[in-house]
Amino acid sequence: MKLLILICLINCIFSSEEIFPRILIIGSGPSGIATASKLLQNGFRNLTILEAENRIGGRVHSIKIGDYLVDVGAQWVHGEKDNVAFELAWPLGLLERLSENKEFYFSSKIYGSNGEEISLNASSSLVEYLMENISSSDSINESLKDLNSGSFGEYAEKKLMDFFKNYEEIHANQHKPLLHLLDMVEMTNEAAPTWHNLSAKSVRDYPELITANKKEYSADHVVVTVSLGVLQKNIDTLFKPQLPEKKINTIKSLSFGTAAKILIYYDVPWYINEPIGLWGMYWTEEDRKQIENDPQKRWMLGLSVGSKTEHKPKLFVLWITGPHVNEMEILPEEMFQEQVKDILKRFFGKACNLTEPSIIKRSSWSTNENFLGTWSYLSVQAEANGIDNKDYAEPIMKNDSPVLQFAGEATAYHFATVHGAIETGFREADRLINYYNKNN
Ligand SMILES: *[C@@H]1O[C@H](CO)[C@@H](O)[C@H](O)[C@H]1NC(C)=O
Ligand SMILES: *[C@@H]1O[C@H](CO)[C@@H](O)[C@H](O)[C@H]1NC(C)=O
Ligand SMILES: *[C@@H]1O[C@H](CO)[C@@H](O)[C@H](O)[C@H]1NC(C)=O
Ligand SMILES: *[C@@H]1O[C@H](CO)[C@@H](O)[C@H](O)[C@H]1NC(C)=O
Ligand SMILES: *[C@@H]1O[C@H](CO)[C@@H](O)[C@H](O)[C@H]1NC(C)=O
Ligand SMILES: *[C@@H]1O[C@H](CO)[C@@H](O)[C@H](O)[C@H]1NC(C)=O
Repeated sequence: MKLLILICLINCIFSSEEIFPRILIIGSGPSGIATASKLLQNGFRNLTILEAENRIGGRVHSIKIGDYLVDVGAQWVHGEKDNVAFELAWPLGLLERLSENKEFYFSSKIYGSNGEEISLNASSSLVEYLMENISSSDSINESLKDLNSGSFGEYAEKKLMDFFKNYEEIHANQHKPLLHLLDMVEMTNEAAPTWHNLSAKSVRDYPELITANKKEYSADHVVVTVSLGVLQKNIDTLFKPQLPEKKINTIKSLSFGTAAKILIYYDVPWYINEPIGLWGMYWTEEDRKQIENDPQKRWMLGLSVGSKTEHKPKLFVLWITGPHVNEMEILPEEMFQEQVKDILKRFFGKACNLTEPSIIKRSSWSTNENFLGTWSYLSVQAEANGIDNKDYAEPIMKNDSPVLQFAGEATAYHFATVHGAIETGFREADRLINYYNKNN
């Protein structure tokens, strides 16, 4: 279903006599639900939530695959401190700390497209260096002043070339393939096309309406929680009157990225005796040349890691990132299934005795009109131009009343996370609660 929303501020007349102001929330993801639940808890009653999908949850979505309920979208809770997702879920016994999972042992294997495995010594050193000496905030802080572009990629490649210089076990012809792999691994977290698009600084921080069915709604306040991607694509047609120019520019200047999962279910898993961990997958130069100009195979260059899953031994997941996600999502089903089997053979078939997968599924966040990607990131350009998602989060006011409000992960201090999204829902509910406390 195509989500085409036309938000009209002209008729959003606020009347202070009304006991229950009419509040319209667009989107039933974590931020929309957080807004609604907090408002309900505070006595607001006239709430309407519009949803274009046939389910609630937004970018949190579980589906049945074989014996399991599997997260196609958000999957982990990142951190505990100042984390509302943790605070909500921990007392209900829904979470487990990775460090307390005896099954979990972070093995960092790396396989090539030629089936060769990098020595465990080398791959462990490389991954440890990536985590401790590159992605940690202290090391970035020191190096920021030496960067020309301000991109994370420039910084990471410099540091990695230093590492390779002192690490002879990794051959020179593996440097470029490994740089590409580590780029994809980092972008699986950040969702930018490549690490050259990502600002190095980002690593420091963690009305009336017509919908697709043309039904009109009127409200005193509208809380827009659609993804930044949906907002950017439809910004010129979504609002009537148009948003202020500054707001439009801010929204257009922020960056929304994408990542994907391929979910592979085995009746007889071949990796059963392996510890849980992330296995990097790099393309040799030779193999890369064979696929990089093939529009139906090029997407495989977006592969970053494969991994088995906690508590779900039959589930193996491949991660894809960057512009390749779209190419993967549009492949015809049969071709996709065959290609995934080929990938598994190519990378793991030499070192392991593979078994046949029984179910292969893929996420489709990037091509789904109601999402158009996965989460936001801080780009080099936004950082250089001082574009801040705080400006995106500012409501549109009319007679001192917040008539049009914005929530969702891309408006959050903790952007790119579910807990960030929930915080923004609470933030916008609080804005309304304070407004009515002040005016009653
Ligand atoms: C909620 O708003 C609608 C109009 O949008 C109105 O018809 C209805 O009476 C309101 N309900 C309450 C409980 O205020
Ligand atoms: C592992 O790498 C280190 C250098 O980081 C080296 O000193 C050591 O000899 C290597 N071990 C093996 C078994 O290759
Ligand atoms: C990585 O960082 C640690 C401290 O966090 C330091 O002790 C170590 O020397 C660094 N390694 C390299 C290769 O720079
Ligand atoms: C990081 O940068 C800030 C200023 O940007 C500075 O105050 C702080 O001392 C730096 N920390 C390290 C570890 O270099
Ligand atoms: C990413 O960076 C490349 C050059 O480094 C640029 O051509 C491209 O437009 C950027 N993509 C986005 C989405 O910003
Ligand atoms: C694969 O199977 C062969 C024959 O059963 C066996 O010798 C070999 O050890 C197995 N390899 C692995 C990695 O399990």
